Amino acid sequence: MLRRGIGGCRLLSSKVFPGFSSAGALADIVKPSDCMVFEDFLTKGEHDSLANEIVSDDCDLRLQRFRRKKYEMDHWDSVIKGYKELERHIEFWNESNAKTLRKTQAFIHEHLKAHVDDCVNLDWLPPHIIDLASDGAISPHVDSIKFSGKVVAGLSLLSERTMWLRLADQQTDTPKICLKLPPRSLYILCNKARYELAHSVECNPSSERRLSIIFRDRLL
Ligand code: OGA
Ligand code: MN
Repeated sequence: MLRRGIGGCRLLSSKVFPGFSSAGALADIVKPSDCMVFEDFLTKGEHDSLANEIVSDDCDLRLQRFRRKKYEMDHWDSVIKGYKELERHIEFWNESNAKTLRKTQAFIHEHLKAHVDDCVNLDWLPPHIIDLASDGAISPHVDSIKFSGKVVAGLSLLSERTMWLRLADQQTDTPKICLKLPPRSLYILCNKARYELAHSVECNPSSERRLSIIFRDRLL
């Protein structure tokens, strides 16, 4: 499957939205294009290079500090457990990773221009690295609308996790959309999936360490 570039019809073949057909009532609320997963978005080389920059010894001071940090078990609002996070401006990444990240932003932007109103101009916040320990998990939440705009998108590295989407105001036994996020995939949440559904990344006994690189746009 094609992982490069933002054009080209082969990208269409990498679009999947697992779980969407079983979303029941949620299928009337969100469109598939609001919660897409592009499997194999990154090549193995791109994946390994991004993961390596985050976890290898050979990194700059900021990343060295990040690597040494212990996993935080309790976030102030307890949305995330067993995690470390770091904002890393694209200019700080090595040249080939910066290129991969810019390509990812361009791809997300094309998706938004096609599916979201008023997205011609977009200003990106620095990519946000989340390192989730094997027992780490992210509870259902909607990303703050005070700090970022129309999209929440993420690259998944190292191991597969499942993201669940459910109505934000009814977080218990309601229909859920299940998005499988294998390593090398890119997910994009926009429109109602960004604002009206809560997302979570749960953990199960076989979960392993997972890295994600999250892309959000600045409020204009
Ligand atoms: C978050 C979040 C999801 C992920 O940091 O707000 O929902 O894929 N992260 O790590
Ligand atoms: Mn989130």
